[in-house]
Amino acid sequence: MVSKCVRVTFLFTFMVLVSAYLMSGSVLADTSINIVNKNRCMACHSVDKKRVGPAFKAIAKRYDGSGQAVVHLQTTIKNGSQRRWGAIPMPAQNHVSDEDARIIAQWILSLSNGN
Ligand code: HEC
Repeated sequence: MVSKCVRVTFLFTFMVLVSAYLMSGSVLADTSINIVNKNRCMACHSVDKKRVGPAFKAIAKRYDGSGQAVVHLQTTIKNGSQRRWGAIPMPAQNHVSDEDARIIAQWILSLSNGN
């Protein structure tokens, strides 16, 4: 009887912890990075080093504080970009959905405050 009660309490605590973890920001960040990987952005970008394209952290810094930043980045992700960072243009990423582009834009901007 006692041990059954302990087991139920344990199970309940476990479930509360799992749902708290699922709702936490780290899982949201995981989802964003999955979307970035799924859309093959990392072929040219990385979070903190310049590769073919600028580092996502550098992009976050440049647009930090601009009210239009999410919309701007969402548009450039889908349409591509040129001469903002250097000689190499970024081709349009038509395979990215509007929703994914918005989530990626918000994720990139979140990188400027150390998240
Ligand atoms: C073929 C290589 C390549 C791929 C693939 C690529 N990028 Fe880029 N990206 C670049 C280059 C090069 C630039 C710099 C363009 C410029 O100078 O304006 C850039 C710039 C950017 C910028 C900054 C735009 C601005 O307005 O300043 C963002 C945001 C960005 N890329 C996001 C992404 C995302 C998200 C993906 C995946 C869906 C992606 N890129 C895929 C090469 C790439």
